[in-house]
Amino acid sequence: MIYESILTSLSLEGKPHIAPFGIRERNGLVLIAPFKPSQTLDNLLATGNAVLNFTDDVRVFAGSLTGHGDWPLRKTDKVNGMVLASALAHQELELVEMKDDTARPELYFRIVHEETHAPFRGFNRAQAAVIELAVLVSRLHMLPIEKIETELNYLKIAIEKTAGERELQAWQWLVDKIENYKAAMTGENQA
Ligand SMILES: Cc1cc2nc3c(=O)[nH]c(=O)nc-3n(C[C@H](O)[C@H](O)[C@H](O)COP(=O)(O)O)c2cc1C
Repeated sequence: MIYESILTSLSLEGKPHIAPFGIRERNGLVLIAPFKPSQTLDNLLATGNAVLNFTDDVRVFAGSLTGHGDWPLRKTDKVNGMVLASALAHQELELVEMKDDTARPELYFRIVHEETHAPFRGFNRAQAAVIELAVLVSRLHMLPIEKIETELNYLKIAIEKTAGERELQAWQWLVDKIENYKAAMTGENQA
């Protein structure tokens, strides 16, 4: 099972970095597998710490892929890190093992501390649709544009029926990114 979370990390100079990551549980440890190259990977190896933020504010997922990445953070309690102000819960992690790989190393962490800040309010289809489109946008250069458009048109149904303000904003950022990508592709074709 994979849980989509927001991973916050710090560079050696203390600069926070926010990125969505799918995380897995393996034998009581948390497995994070970043594709190289990755600022998150560099930070995790430099500091040995990560913070997992579980949030239903899908603007943070869409924002990190579309240039809207400046979200309020506060310092963590037990490890040197930052937690998202909008997190419903968070976990503070310490690196215990790394299996290196040329494409996608596996990093295993133990949970040092965890906290719940607000209740889970139930599933929302528009939030799930934004996460799906965010995954597609993170693979924009690898997937055929026709596949992205077909999936977008299906996911839009959940947006139209169930979105609130935050979901609409996040959705629009992703749609704009796809439109800009298509325009750049057309420009390249005409050149
Ligand atoms: C829902 C979601 C899950 C993701 N999971 C992963 C992941 O497990 N590994 C990965 O390398 N990138 C993942 N990505 C893409 C990264 O968030 C994105 O490439 C990010 O910029 C990481 O690069 P960075 O560490 O340089 O910021 C995911 C993106 C989304 C939207």
